[in-house]
Parts: sequence; C-alpha cells; structure tokens
Amino acid sequence: MSDMQGKVILITGATNGIGRAAALDLARRGATVAVAGRSQQRLDDTLAMIRAEGGSETVSGLLADLSTQADVRRLADGFRSKHDRLDMLLNNAGASFRERADTADGLERSFAVNHMAYYLLTRLLLDMLQASAPARIVNVSSEAHRQLKTFDFDNLDGRKRWTMFGFSAYSQSKLANILFTRELARRLDGTGVTVNAMHPGAVNTGLFQNIEGIGGRVIGALAPIFMKTPEQGADTLVWLATADEMAGRSGGYYDRRRLREPSAAAQDDAAAQRLWSLSAELCGLGVE
Ligand SMILES: NC(=O)c1ccc[n+]([C@@H]2O[C@H](COP(=O)([O-])OP(=O)(O)OC[C@H]3O[C@@H](n4cnc5c(N)ncnc54)[C@H](OP(=O)(O)O)[C@@H]3O)[C@@H](O)[C@H]2O)c1
Repeated sequence: MSDMQGKVILITGATNGIGRAAALDLARRGATVAVAGRSQQRLDDTLAMIRAEGGSETVSGLLADLSTQADVRRLADGFRSKHDRLDMLLNNAGASFRERADTADGLERSFAVNHMAYYLLTRLLLDMLQASAPARIVNVSSEAHRQLKTFDFDNLDGRKRWTMFGFSAYSQSKLANILFTRELARRLDGTGVTVNAMHPGAVNTGLFQNIEGIGGRVIGALAPIFMKTPEQGADTLVWLATADEMAGRSGGYYDRRRLREPSAAAQDDAAAQRLWSLSAELCGLGVE
C-alpha cells in the first residue's frame, strides 16, 4: 500500500458508492482526505465510518450540491480556507436522471452535475494543483460514453433527444468527461499536473436507483451477483491517484488499471476544444 502521508486529496461524491470506498482507502494510506457531499447527514456518516474503519483523523467534510455553480464555487472556497495544498483532485460525483430537468443555472442536470461541476471545480483549483505539483486529477467517466457517435452540441439540454432512464444524457456527460480530460491534459502539458479519465466497471452503487419498475427490480436483484462491489469499483481510481508508475502520465482513459482506447468521439480534439470554450462560457469564466 503506497504511503500518502502529507498528500492532500479532494474527492467529490464521497458519501456513497465508489467515492466513499476510495476515500476510505486513501485515508487508510495516510492521506489527508477532504470528502465532498451534498447531504450533511451522509457526510457525517461517511466521516464517522472513515475515522472508525480507517483509523484516520485526517479526514474532513465539505458540503456542496454540485448541480449548482454557486455551490461548486463555495466548495472550492471552502477547500481553500482549510488547506494550503492540493495533490489530487478526484472528480467522481455523478448521477443519472430518469426525467429531463434544468438546474438553477438553466443547464440539464446530467450535464451540470457530471460535466460542468468537474470542469468548474478543476478550473477553480488549478492554481493550487499547479503550486503543489507533481499533482494529479482523475475524472471518473464510464464506458457509457461509447453510446454516442459524436458529442451532440445541439442537444446539451436533452430536449432534442432523451432516451429511456435519461441514458442519452448520462452517456453524453460521460463522453464530456473524456473530452475534458483530453483538452485539459493538452493545456497542462509541462506543468507537472496530470489528468486521466477512467471507467470503474459495472458497480453496485446508488447510481441506478432512478431505474424504477421491472427494469429497476431486475437490476436490483442481479446487481450483487454480476456487479463489482464499491471497493472493487474504486480500485482503478485509487490506483490512478497513487501509483508510482502513473507519475507523469496524462491524457489517458483507463479501465482495470489498463490504458484503453476510448471511442472515436472521445478522441475528437475539435470537440474537446469546443466543449472547453463552451464550458468556460457557461460558468462565466470567459471564452478561451
Ligand atoms: N456504478 C457504476 O456501475 C458506474 C459505472 C461507470 C461510471 N460510474 C461513475 O462513477 C461515479 C460514482 O458513481 P457511483 O456509481 O459511486 O454512484 P453513487 O453510489 O450514486 O454515488 C454518487 C455520488 O455522487 C454524489 N452526488 C450525486 N449528485 C450530486 C450532486 N448534485 N451534488 C453533490 N454530490 C452529488 C452522491 O451523493 P449522495 O450520497 O448524496 O447521493 C454520491 O456520493 C459517477 O461519476 C458515475 O458516473 C459508475
């Protein structure tokens, strides 16, 4: 187990599933772990669990609903007020939504939580990461990104096309994670900050709880048999954050600790640059 003493890690979506398992693992390795969650109760439960099971006191909580940009900014400010360095930023919080709806910022929810929060939080903390270099960013994506042949800039709001259980919007947001990783890696070249994306596998977590009816019951019954546990799902995420062999390696997409070629759409550099500029505009950072 790699020694993470002195390393400061911020992980989002750490109150359930993969993020919670990763936070425990990282705390056990001696890292100072800041866990972000949207519910004070679930944050308190997670902190108590990590202190009890991980034997770690170097863990703290930050409350933020990442569907709103105001809260993403509050999270970045809250982190800065408590820490003077950031060695690893793990963008993991994610959700899938059965029904289409907009956030307070007027963005479709999957796009807002699964992509815009990764983008804005990273941009807001980039100077801290650079000052702490060598530093790492890991973006949790998904094999679901392969569902789209191209990133559909004309359907960011999901009004043109919305498939069952919101899977089209979820898949597009996961494609955005890889495009964002690709463009960010290009921009961070030579800074000592690396960024990679990953797929955790099919993991038995809270992610599919919006699938109701017979589909939900079937998945619920089969999940413990065929899906990974959250601990198994966290393995590649923790490995990307901590492994010595990942030092200096950036811009990749990983599955089961192996570099894997993402879809052609995820390797579209023009789309990656367009998404970067659009995202900057959508969160008021100005067009780049
Ligand atoms: N499970 C899989 O099979 C699978 C496969 C591929 C990729 N992934 C990716 O893995 C990541 C983690 O998901 P998971 O499977 O561990 O699901 P999960 O058990 O539902 O955990 C998701 C985490 O994100 C948090 N979250 C959701 N919406 C949020 C919001 N608006 N603001 C702040 N936090 C929010 C949740 O908070 P609460 O605790 O408050 O709900 C929870 O802590 C996601 O990015 C997902 O896309 C999962």
